[in-house]
Amino acid sequence: MSETSPTGIPNVHADDGSDAPRIDPLDQFLAWYAEAEKAGAPFADAFALATSSASGHPAVRYVLFKGLVGGTLRLVTNFESRKGRELDENPHAALAFFWPATGRQVRMEGTIARASDAESDAYFAKRDRITQLGAWASAQSRPIATRAELEAELARRDREFAGVTVPRPRHWGMLAFTPAVVEFWKSGEFRLHDRFRYERDGATWRVERLAP
Ligand SMILES: Cc1cc2nc3c(=O)[nH]c(=O)nc-3n(C[C@H](O)[C@H](O)[C@H](O)COP(=O)(O)O)c2cc1C
Repeated sequence: MSETSPTGIPNVHADDGSDAPRIDPLDQFLAWYAEAEKAGAPFADAFALATSSASGHPAVRYVLFKGLVGGTLRLVTNFESRKGRELDENPHAALAFFWPATGRQVRMEGTIARASDAESDAYFAKRDRITQLGAWASAQSRPIATRAELEAELARRDREFAGVTVPRPRHWGMLAFTPAVVEFWKSGEFRLHDRFRYERDGATWRVERLAP
């Protein structure tokens, strides 16, 4: 069986009789991401991340893509932020990238878990000192009275860690999003867009074309 893949490459299924598509959707995602960057898409790494409370109340915000590791998308945040608290209650999440420069969207559904402390430590260690201090100073998503309060807290943390390497706060680190569904959308002529939806099926992916 053959089908057109999101890039137009024939998406020929494996010869062994299984229905496994040869094109892994995460390879496809990386190819589209690279093409968006090459096309000069501003904030090509920004994506909308939707979470939901245990009661099913959704919330969405933009965050930055920090790479693909072992089939999971990485992002960094404050674990005690609204999104962090919602993910503690309900690990299900959805995300969407949109790259106007290439006329493409990728959306995913899956679950989010914290990456290892070692990975968060390694990432935090690479950030510049002011950004590290910011992670200590900002209780993300909590009300604050004034901007001056935030700046005073930043200065206080600067004094606290004067002359030493800033350690990673336990409440800040890397999250790993594991996709179960990946959908590619490419704008087409006369609004006849191409949509391909990959759904995880055990160790492989099932792919189908959707009406636009
Ligand atoms: C382009 C863009 C990129 C952002 N990247 C991040 C990010 O990587 N991590 C993060 O915690 N917040 C990031 N933010 C801020 C979030 O959108 C959001 O305001 C913050 O994480 C608090 O969200 P919450 O209260 O729902 O947890 C970004 C905002 C924008 C507009």
